[in-house]
Amino acid sequence: MRVLGIETSCDETGIAIVQAGPPPRILGQVLHSQVAMHERYGGVVPELASRDHSARIVGLTLTVLQRAQLTWRDIDAIAYTEGPGLAGALLVGASLAASLAYALDKPLLPIHHLEGHLLSPLLSDDPPPFPFVALLVSGGHTQLLSVERLGRYRLLGESVDDAAGEAFDKSAKLLGLGYPGGPALARLAVHGNPDAYDLPRPMLRSNDLQFSFSGLKTAVLTQVRKGLADEQARADLAASVQAAIVDVLVAKALRALAQTGLSNLVIAGGVSANQRLREKLGAAAQSRAIRLHFPPTELCTDNGAMIALAGALRLAALPEPPGGLDPARIAAGFTVRPRWPLDQLR
Ligand code: KG4
Ligand code: ZN
Repeated sequence: MRVLGIETSCDETGIAIVQAGPPPRILGQVLHSQVAMHERYGGVVPELASRDHSARIVGLTLTVLQRAQLTWRDIDAIAYTEGPGLAGALLVGASLAASLAYALDKPLLPIHHLEGHLLSPLLSDDPPPFPFVALLVSGGHTQLLSVERLGRYRLLGESVDDAAGEAFDKSAKLLGLGYPGGPALARLAVHGNPDAYDLPRPMLRSNDLQFSFSGLKTAVLTQVRKGLADEQARADLAASVQAAIVDVLVAKALRALAQTGLSNLVIAGGVSANQRLREKLGAAAQSRAIRLHFPPTELCTDNGAMIALAGALRLAALPEPPGGLDPARIAAGFTVRPRWPLDQLR
């Protein structure tokens, strides 16, 4: 079973073909990042994002087929990101997916973007066994979930304000770094002292699994306003911000494992690429009976492979394969869900 996956929820056009397995395997993939286009605006411009997705999506899809040395006949289903994300951007992927499903008479599989992220470690060399705890850390979400099985996600806690990626991005902006801020801040932090600034670790000691990162941004702003003497001071502040975010993520992830009694932890979403987060979790796991599972590095941020994978797993789990799209469903239109809580998924 081979599934074509289409991801257009934000600023990356990701297309991939995944063979269901087991184990699942990527047969071909391409990713076009719009970072260079949005950079000068300091963030994603939704209308530009949609237009760029539509300009490139067909060409990229043909490239993936070519790279995988497959033809349309070899594709068994089409998966696409239905949400959450930018409505216009989502619509581009959804319309190509629905058109392909209709033309090829193959099943159309609408996928939740965050489900894609949290299943992406199944494409690594050390796939997690169910059940596991997932720490989802992206630009828009910071959530801890208990994952019982495919489609069964219980929300344990989430950010009450900014997401972890957002905290990285906003702090980076205050430090005069480009977009996306996470990787830029992490690069600057390499030369800094993480103990130089005493920044707040919001809700670190609260006895729940909620996060709050908006106070951190204010603390960074205060330091920037006081003035940063030199390049070393900037690096020190970057390192201190990163340490504050990572400390909270690690503490809450460990608490989630203790509360659920689970021992496997999946870390996914853009911030899972962060080196300090990986090191600190790694150190914590060593002294406890915990196993960590990250996506392969190139699949930490948005990509088509995680959507194709979620589609392949969902297709395999269905009692019988769904048929192609009927004209009535096409006429009724297809849906996207810009807002879509993961625990509403079945
Ligand atoms: O999952 P993702 O690609 O897109 C969303 O669904 O949001 O995550 C993007 C987020 C951005 O906030 C970006 O700054 C952050 O992930 N990010 C990082 C790193 N790489 C990406 N944050 C910290 N350190 C990194 N190395
Ligand atoms: Zn994402």
